[in-house]
Amino acid sequence: MKKRSPMPPDTKGMRPESLMMSYGYLPELSEGAVKPPIFQTSTFAFKNAQQAKEAFAEAYGLEEPDPLRPLHLIYSRLNNPDLDIVEHRLNLWDRAEESAVFASGMAAISTSILALVPIGSSVVFARPVYGGTDYLLAIILPEMGTVTREFPAGSEPRLVEGMLEELEAAGTPCKMVFFETPANPTTTLTDIAGMAEVAHRHGALCVVDNTLLGPLYQQPLRHGADLVVYSATKYLGGHSDLVAGVVLGCAELMSRVKLYRTILGSMLDPHSAWLLLRSLETAKLRMTCARKNAEKVAAWLAEHPKISKVYFPGFRPSSFQEEIYQRQCSGPGALISFELANSGEAEAFRVLDSVRLIKLAVSLGGTESLIEHPATMTHADIPAESQRKIGITPAMIRLSVGIEHPADLIADLEQALAYLDEAVAPTVGSAQLASAKEDAP
Ligand SMILES: Cc1ncc(COP(=O)(O)O)c(C=O)c1O
Repeated sequence: MKKRSPMPPDTKGMRPESLMMSYGYLPELSEGAVKPPIFQTSTFAFKNAQQAKEAFAEAYGLEEPDPLRPLHLIYSRLNNPDLDIVEHRLNLWDRAEESAVFASGMAAISTSILALVPIGSSVVFARPVYGGTDYLLAIILPEMGTVTREFPAGSEPRLVEGMLEELEAAGTPCKMVFFETPANPTTTLTDIAGMAEVAHRHGALCVVDNTLLGPLYQQPLRHGADLVVYSATKYLGGHSDLVAGVVLGCAELMSRVKLYRTILGSMLDPHSAWLLLRSLETAKLRMTCARKNAEKVAAWLAEHPKISKVYFPGFRPSSFQEEIYQRQCSGPGALISFELANSGEAEAFRVLDSVRLIKLAVSLGGTESLIEHPATMTHADIPAESQRKIGITPAMIRLSVGIEHPADLIADLEQALAYLDEAVAPTVGSAQLASAKEDAP
């Protein structure tokens, strides 16, 4: 469905952060309210039957819409002003023609795949991906008759090209190459431009889950991706108080994704859309602060003797990863995974049980720092052998860095890591002492 909500004038050339408080909304349509109200309604009254007829003709594509008139509102499964405004604002960050908001990241991903991958064809996806996405791709889609194949995140595009050729030869052509970059939880980067080129050569779409870097540090559409998807539950929502998803892309693909959203009923509700509007106003502030904190925490973890490995897009383990980072990322984000040296699940659990400021919870991208154990939590539905292959070990811990003072986060980790060594009592760490000196509001 084409967007025709009123735009405030003279916004051309302005940056997304400047427009997050106004774009796509005219106060005079809502009693002059500076903030858009929550349009908490399931249905919209028509002026008369003729208007209702026109609205439906337009919604079902029976009539060309008048591009100068605001979109007819019908029913909140089809459209709603809060969804419309938030979609306009989301388009700005990713420079997308169209976007659609969903009830969750999983609703966004599953609706897009159902809309764009005919049953009997195939999807090729990178591992690791978030556990729910993995389950959808590895179990549910094959149960429905879609062939799926996996490749390791960070692979050279020519490896994927070989898979696409095999799938074509087998009569199950690939319609979508799907990956997260950075991947959750190993933060491995995958080459968007390279994968998009290969996908397009073989008639497939390139779809990128950009949840971990958000639109601030990576804009996949600019590198040739056809669709970008988000769990907006994470950095876009940013306060751990809503569950939402987003898909963005060109108008043609998005009209099909939106049709499926309407029919499957996987749209976002007006209240969550309104919360997301609130969140987008501070997206740049929050993400910048979390990123700066994460750079400090990652550097500290990398020096810690009880930690054998730190996964963070700020540290690139190979020249290919470095090349990809330089080409498509403008910052490392704020998700770090790390592995405890000579340890397993018991030691990882000890650290998780010992943090005081950081919360033991799944999810990421909120204002508060969260810590979790991928092998038994977010990625528990991936079989142990596959986990090991993709680098998820029992000693791996994932940390989403929030906007607290970085010295307090480091002090919390330091006292938690001290529990690993029975002989070492948890102490007020040196990081905490350092923070007392440097602490200024
Ligand atoms: C990278 C990534 N994509 C998608 C999802 C699914 O999002 P949601 O929980 O909003 O359905 C998650 C959830 O953790 C995720 O981390």
